[in-house]
Amino acid sequence: MSGRGGGVAASGAMAMRRAAIAIVVFVVLVAALFWLDPDGLYLWIKALHVIAVIAWMAGMLYLPRLFVYHADVLVGSLQSEMFKVMERRLLRAIINPAMVVSWVLGLWLAWSGFGLMGGWLHAKILLVLLLSGVHGYLSRAVRLFGEDRNTRPARHWRIVNEVPTVLMIGIVILVIVKPF
Ligand code: HEM
Repeated sequence: MSGRGGGVAASGAMAMRRAAIAIVVFVVLVAALFWLDPDGLYLWIKALHVIAVIAWMAGMLYLPRLFVYHADVLVGSLQSEMFKVMERRLLRAIINPAMVVSWVLGLWLAWSGFGLMGGWLHAKILLVLLLSGVHGYLSRAVRLFGEDRNTRPARHWRIVNEVPTVLMIGIVILVIVKPF
């Protein structure tokens, strides 16, 4: 048991190290792009924005799915402890950094490409603020599950799981169709 726990901790440390390296590489890439200032800078930043958004959304869709299963296992069981590690790691290594990068690059695009103007842009930012609120709610849930204090049933997390999906559909339509 303790051997397995040690294995989980070691692989967790390695995963966090790999995630940290990926974040540093990403930040260096962004810094190099701004420094080199190539002709297609806007498109390069947009590509990095979309990559960050995909990572953010992947985590935001997977985390509540983990809660659906976690809510149904016994407190103190091996499965429960495994879910805690997976949830914490997903939040810290993927979701949090991806949200920061999505916001920073998205705001830069909005400022340099559109002077922060446009009905579609304001509506998009509103939906992204709501998405960030869901992010905050999920972060709090990771803490509560980590302390064995979740009181919500699996059904609740199934419903929460749909919210980022609906917001994502609205955000993507707004930024691509720009209907107003
Ligand atoms: C965090 C705040 C965000 C801001 C301020 C922002 C702003 C922007 C801006 C100004 C563009 C460039 C649009 C263009 O060049 O036509 C863009 C591109 C894009 N954004 Fe965001 N964005 C944010 C977050 C998100 C999120 C959360 C998603 C998806 C869920 C998303 C999906 C996209 C996509 C798919 C594109 C490419 C659109 C295209 O090239 O036609 N963004 N974003």
